[in-house]
Formats: sequence, C-alpha cells, structure tokens
Amino acid sequence: MASFLTFPALPSLPYSPTRASSFRSRSTSLFQNRFGVRCSYAEATVRDDYKPDTIDVIADVKTERIVVLGGSGFVGSAICKAAVSKGIEVISLSRSGRPTYPNSWVDQVNWIAGDVFYVNWDEVLVGATAVVSTLGGFGSEEQMQRINGEANVVSVNAAKDYGVPKFVLISVHDYNLPSFLLSSGYFTGKRKAESEVLSKYPNSGVVLRPGFIYGKRRVDGYEIPLDLIGEPLERILRAAESFTKPLSSLPASDLFLAPPVSVDDVALAAINAISDDDFFGIFTIDQIKEAAEKVRV
Ligand SMILES: NC(=O)c1ccc[n+]([C@@H]2O[C@H](COP(=O)([O-])OP(=O)(O)OC[C@H]3O[C@@H](n4cnc5c(N)ncnc54)[C@H](OP(=O)(O)O)[C@@H]3O)[C@@H](O)[C@H]2O)c1
Repeated sequence: MASFLTFPALPSLPYSPTRASSFRSRSTSLFQNRFGVRCSYAEATVRDDYKPDTIDVIADVKTERIVVLGGSGFVGSAICKAAVSKGIEVISLSRSGRPTYPNSWVDQVNWIAGDVFYVNWDEVLVGATAVVSTLGGFGSEEQMQRINGEANVVSVNAAKDYGVPKFVLISVHDYNLPSFLLSSGYFTGKRKAESEVLSKYPNSGVVLRPGFIYGKRRVDGYEIPLDLIGEPLERILRAAESFTKPLSSLPASDLFLAPPVSVDDVALAAINAISDDDFFGIFTIDQIKEAAEKVRV
C-alpha cells in the first residue's frame, strides 16, 4: 500500500545523493520503532517544491489487520488486548460479539457477531493480514469434532480463498497421551485443524500447542483467577524439570508434568507469529514462552 507521509524537518541541508541515503536510513529506523507497522521503502524522493520545514516521502507502508476468531473468549480476548496495545487493527468474530465488560481496549476492537459456519466472510476477511483462531472447546464427541476440527477447517479455507497470508491456530499440547485417549473428538478435531493449517499454509501457518492456560477467566460476569493455581504451578514444574525429565516418557505423564502457560504469553506468542514472517510451523509450550519473550516490552 503506498502512503504519502510528511515527516518533521531534518536539519535543512541542500539535497545530495549521499545525504539522501543517510536520510533513508534514519527514516527506516523511525518506521521500525513503531511496532506492528512493517514498512519498506520503494523510494524516498525529495520533491521539487521542497520546503525547509517539512520533507515529503513516498513510502510503501504495510499495516497489520488481524482477525481473531473467538476474540471474546478467554484466550481470544488476551490476543485482542495485546494486539491493540501494539497498534494492530483488530477484528473479532464470535457468536456473542462484543463483550459486556467495559475496558478501553474493548472499544478499539471491531466486534462482529457471527458464527464461522454461517458468516459472510466478505464482512470479516477482506484486507486481513492474518487470522488467529481460538475456536475450540469441549462437549459431546460430535460437538468437539465440529468446533475443534470443522470450524477451523472452514476458517482456514475461507482465509486461503480471501488471500489472507497468515493463519495462526491455538491448538493444544498432546500430553503424551495413549492413542485411545488421543482419539477423542477434542484431540482428533485439533489435529485435523492443524493439518489443514499446515497444508494450506506450508510456509506461514502457525500452530501453537499450549498446555493448561492460566489467567483471569471471565464466566458469566465473574472473574475466575486461574493464575492463583497456574502461576505457582508453572514455577514449581519449571524448577523441578531436571528431576521430572526422566518421567516424561511415561504415557500421559505430561498431564502432571507439562508446565501451564499464562494467557498473556500465549497472546504475545500469537502477536510474534503474525509479525514475524520467519515464524511458522508447530510450537511447543517452551517455544510459546520463547516467542512471547521476543515481543514483551
Ligand atoms: N483454556 C485452556 O486452558 C486451553 C488450553 C489449551 C488449549 N486451549 C485452546 O485454546 C483455544 C481457546 O480456548 P479458550 O479457553 O479461550 O476458549 P473459550 O473461552 O471458550 O473461547 C472460544 C471462543 O470461540 C468462540 N466461538 C465458539 N464457537 C464459535 C462459532 N461457531 N463461531 C464463532 N465463534 C465461536 C466463542 O464465542 P461465542 O461462544 O460467543 O461464539 C469464544 O469467543 C481453544 O481452541 C482451546 O481448545 C485452551
């Protein structure tokens, strides 16, 4: 997208090719200081009607515009909040639409009420630079297949059809479970969704596989402080990692040994995923934490 920008004056110097290149590098660093706005220069031109107090620059500016599927949920709202704080334009799609609690970041999200199975994607995906899906949940076998699997498959295909360049899926750790447990609708749905992301987006698709996610979860207007359990548990399990490692080959041992991760870390890892073109593939709990560190201020 080409934009026409006006910058405050640099010291007033006559134009010369050497100075033009030093100006270029200073302006590039100005752009790079703004998180979430990736900019590249086609060219920087000093116009004929040059005035000493302003410099007009033609620049290619790419802004992030993300769609969070399930932005009103526990993980989705943390992603929306983190994205807004980084200056990223955010659209959320969920059946309930805008959450009822007041918060300044809530006002900065474009809330669309709709169901991924019936929505008019024209209203959601046009111009999106990434889709982050938090669709998933529990219920009967059929419901789990539908929300963890089919809902995400439909969304990946819609994103692909609309030319959205990046898809990030919040999936789940496999907990080292025996195969008869992994055959439940929850896990088969998740793995079906993962394969769809990785096959349709082989060079940009991201699958985050967190274990238990803690933070403040809102249910019916109340906040459940899952962090009171999750945070100390994460610290204890990480401190004990060198002792518990030998147990990790036992089936289902990760149900007790996989460290929980904070909802803010999952959100920041998703932000890192959408803003880093080299970030794609499957990410484990530890890799989610590493990715979160890269964008934490
Ligand atoms: N929480 C954890 O500890 C944890 C751990 C590992 C992995 N995960 C995974 O992380 C993801 C997010 O979990 P969460 O705890 O944030 O779940 P959540 O709070 O239930 O959020 C799910 C979101 O999806 C929306 N949604 C559901 N069906 C929809 C549909 N048909 N169309 C549009 N939106 C729909 C829900 O809003 P509406 O109901 O209003 O539509 C809600 O906003 C899930 O995939 C989950 O499996 C969670």
